[in-house]
Amino acid sequence: MHISLQNVTFRYDRDPVLKEIRVDMDRGDMVALVGPNGSGKSTLIKCINGILPVREGDVLIDGASVRTIPAVQRARRIAYVPQTEQKSVPMQVFDAVLLGRKPYIQWRPSRGDYERTAGILERFDLVDVAMREVHKLSGGQQQRVFIARALNQQPEILLLDEPTANLDLRYQLETLELLRDLAGGGITVVIAMHDINMASLFASRVVMLKGGAVFASGGPEIVTAEHVERLFGVKVRVVQDNGNRFIVPDRT
Ligand SMILES: Nc1ncnc2c1ncn2[C@@H]1O[C@H](COP(=O)(O)OP(=O)(O)O)[C@@H](O)[C@H]1O
Ligand SMILES: [Mg+2]
Repeated sequence: MHISLQNVTFRYDRDPVLKEIRVDMDRGDMVALVGPNGSGKSTLIKCINGILPVREGDVLIDGASVRTIPAVQRARRIAYVPQTEQKSVPMQVFDAVLLGRKPYIQWRPSRGDYERTAGILERFDLVDVAMREVHKLSGGQQQRVFIARALNQQPEILLLDEPTANLDLRYQLETLELLRDLAGGGITVVIAMHDINMASLFASRVVMLKGGAVFASGGPEIVTAEHVERLFGVKVRVVQDNGNRFIVPDRT
């Protein structure tokens, strides 16, 4: 689905933390939101899924204001993986992933809901831990559970807030590859992330946020030394390898 942020300004209190954001995201895009802590990445994601009500400007989903989309429709189309799961009641992996079916369930899960959940557990290599409690798994496994639950929703838009923050390198790569495949399959994937090199390697679009405003936006080629220096206020160098450019801190 197409997401269009039209001049979105958002304030929790008096001062805006998002300032006149204009960005378009297409079906099949994998969009990386990058920027320093506090630049508004998490807020922007919550404005897209309607958790935070946008009153200045608008968020259009395939042309319709997110405010006008009924909650159940929104829940079916837009999945959200928050940065940290609130500690809640202990739950087994199977039940946690089954919860992704909630927007479709009338009063109890159908046979199809159980079968789909089992299929997702297989696809995410979670069968062996299906009966374990989520909070007792490793960070990487927990992250897979949350992404699996989001996909069990059959969303057309997938929003993730720093999904790779707690993962080792292998799981970072696996997760980003999986998300890129999902985007290739036609889902609009939006990811808040810190690692600008991972963003430029994996994303089809990069949106740089600074102080709540769009500082730069475009293809991965906008991840330049100059932009990164101005965005994060650090000195960096560009290292070329195999046709890829990597930004590394300049400590000389
Ligand atoms: N619930 C809240 N109430 C008031 N201010 C908030 C709230 N959440 C975030 N903020 C402020 O909004 C700004 C953007 O925060 P956030 O969207 O979390 O940035 P990021 O995800 O890029 O680190 C920050 O200045 C932060 O302090
Ligand atoms: Mg954040």
